[in-house]
Amino acid sequence: MTDTPLLQVENLRAQFGRRDPLVAVDGISYDLRAGETLGIVGESGAGKSVSVRSLVGLIDDGEVTGSVEWRGEELVGAPTRELRAVRGSGIAMVFQNAEAAFDPIEPVGAQIVEAIRASRDLPKGAARAEAVDLLEEVGIGDPAGRFGDYPHEYSGGMAQRAGIAMALAGEPDLLIADEPTTGLDVSVQAGIVDLFRDLVAERDMSLLLISHNLGVVSQLCERIMVMYAGRIVERGSREQLLGSPRHPYTGAFLRSVPDVDVRQELEPIEGAPPSLDDPPAGCRFHPRCPAAEAGLCDVDAPPTVGFDDGDDPERHEATCHGYTDAHPGGDAFDREAVEWIEPAEDPERGER
Ligand SMILES: Nc1ncnc2c1ncn2[C@@H]1O[C@H](COP(=O)(O)OP(=O)(O)OP(=O)(O)O)[C@@H](O)[C@H]1O
Ligand SMILES: [Mg+2]
Repeated sequence: MTDTPLLQVENLRAQFGRRDPLVAVDGISYDLRAGETLGIVGESGAGKSVSVRSLVGLIDDGEVTGSVEWRGEELVGAPTRELRAVRGSGIAMVFQNAEAAFDPIEPVGAQIVEAIRASRDLPKGAARAEAVDLLEEVGIGDPAGRFGDYPHEYSGGMAQRAGIAMALAGEPDLLIADEPTTGLDVSVQAGIVDLFRDLVAERDMSLLLISHNLGVVSQLCERIMVMYAGRIVERGSREQLLGSPRHPYTGAFLRSVPDVDVRQELEPIEGAPPSLDDPPAGCRFHPRCPAAEAGLCDVDAPPTVGFDDGDDPERHEATCHGYTDAHPGGDAFDREAVEWIEPAEDPERGER
């Protein structure tokens, strides 16, 4: 791991529509260093997919602002040519529907060869050999034999593996995977999780993973961010987030989704996430929060609170009023653990 972040995201915003815009991502910031694994979790509609598509210029019908630096190079507003080059080699993406990464009328192997040659100046024969190696690396049995198959001839799990091979064609330093196991059988999912783990270890690649499935995220990611209604409400190491969640939403989210090892009772979160074209004032979670305090949580944007979690060097932060003196507190809020409180950056934002 080096010290310079590969990716530095600063106040990233993405909105759709001009009049009464829907703000899908509302000012998120984070860093990702070489070799790090970061997961983004949150309910459907939280802005997870838009947030990662915004990084690499894949939002064509909306407006993206803020800053995304890739190895120090600004990507927001960068020319299409430059973004394509970054997507071809630096940052690769894998989506839920792997088959969609392929042209249905061309054999899988040929498409991987093209992807290799688009990023590197390799003769055809060498690129072909490398494509076979990639198929083997992602766990396709008889890779040379499957090279000429069409995408529809691959099963769901095999297509997802081939999609990952395609993503690896440009030797990326960062792999972004958006729900890569969703929709696959549980046993197939487990194989894909193992594959990601091996790839990250062997290729010294960073991983930015989005998944509804907390088990998948906690198996693969050392750091986790929780998104709610376009914003990050909590972040920290896997141990911090799972072991001592600090935001009432994180706790509720953890109780609402299946865990890896533990068969626990699932408790759905009551209510629904807000609509992003007219989000609630104050903390966006307040209408669903059992600890919401009238006159505070529904009015003012919450501050960011840092926590001391013993030996864990990762910064653990939550954006919540519950740890401040203005809030009555209660069992849900362990004020002993609070290290510092940063006032809300822009109180006006809560009013929108
Ligand atoms: N092209 C678009 N035009 C208008 N609104 C969009 C567009 N793409 C996404 N949105 C909206 O942005 C919000 C965030 O969507 P996004 O797909 O990022 O959510 P998500 O967290 O990835 O959800 P899921 O878990 O269901 O994949 C949603 O309200 C969605 O309807
Ligand atoms: Mg999504």
